[in-house]
Amino acid sequence: MDELKAKYLEQIAYAADEAALEAIRVAAVGKKGEVSLQMRQLGKMTPEERQVAGPALNALKDEINAALAAKKSALADAALDERLKSEWLDVTLPTRARREGTIHPVSQVTEEVTAIFAEMGFSVAEGPRIDTDWYNFDALNIPSHHPARAEMDTFYMHRAESDDRPPHVLRTHTSPVQIRSMEKSGAPLRIICPGGVYRADYDQTHTPMFHQVEGLAVDRDISMANLKWVLEEFCRAFFEVDNVELRFRASHFPFTEPSVEVDLRCSWQDGTLKVGEGDDWMEILGSGMVHPKVLQAGGIDPDEWQGFAFGMGIDRIAMLKYGIPDLRAFFDSDLRWLRHYGFASLDVPTLRGGLSR
Ligand code: PHE
Repeated sequence: MDELKAKYLEQIAYAADEAALEAIRVAAVGKKGEVSLQMRQLGKMTPEERQVAGPALNALKDEINAALAAKKSALADAALDERLKSEWLDVTLPTRARREGTIHPVSQVTEEVTAIFAEMGFSVAEGPRIDTDWYNFDALNIPSHHPARAEMDTFYMHRAESDDRPPHVLRTHTSPVQIRSMEKSGAPLRIICPGGVYRADYDQTHTPMFHQVEGLAVDRDISMANLKWVLEEFCRAFFEVDNVELRFRASHFPFTEPSVEVDLRCSWQDGTLKVGEGDDWMEILGSGMVHPKVLQAGGIDPDEWQGFAFGMGIDRIAMLKYGIPDLRAFFDSDLRWLRHYGFASLDVPTLRGGLSR
């Protein structure tokens, strides 16, 4: 018994890995292991012999099992140490170079716009890009035969010939989110809705998919003066200049009355835009006071509430602010373009931290 004990404890001590340990376990205390076979001999012994050999064999078995368990956990500890050593990371190393991966100008500008309007109490609302023509047109006071429907270059979704429900459309503007937000939250309301919109159009300043941000404020005594202040504050913050001058030009949209297009005073010098000076005017958005029929369509009583709304092209103001000449390149996924015009991913735009460092 002493020999068995010495033999197996030594083998266990020198076992190199778990597989070797398992082989030792089988050879010693497995079903047909040496110790187990000895235990089977107990039956053939006299009671006196058995009284001595029985407890001794049991003690031997326990000792070998304990040694196996201790060695197993020592091997596991050593393996973990080895792994920690090989997977060691120096967390004090500097981060990767700024321009390894970049934020697309559309995302950047969306974040900037959101930060500015958040400061003025607007929250962000979203709606589906595929919408019914009721939300995209009718609810916005654009009935079936209104010329604005034709002017929008709408993409209609396919319907089976037997299906005479009105077709779904790819939304042509973010204005349908006005209706959805009014339905959902009622008045008072202060939201912006950034997102993709679609029109069948393609040239240097038009792509079939582009981005708008809608603004909507509904309250008991909202006027054009509030609209003007909000837009001026926005332009000052967005273009990062103290002097901005806006020009409100009478226009027409079915969903606002009165309607204005808003131009920004600027100058072009050597192909670069300067905001707030010069003799040029740049159109940046459409807006107006929400038409009573639109409030009604959103479930809001126009005798009690008024509101203003505006819609602005995100890609367009991104091109102006960052001097990007061709809109089509926005959606080409050309890595060289993305590296050149993209933004560092860790610089989140905030008003206090700087919008576009
Ligand atoms: N929806 C209009 C467009 O796409 C913009 C707009 C929005 C105008 C809200 C007035 C009020 O051109």
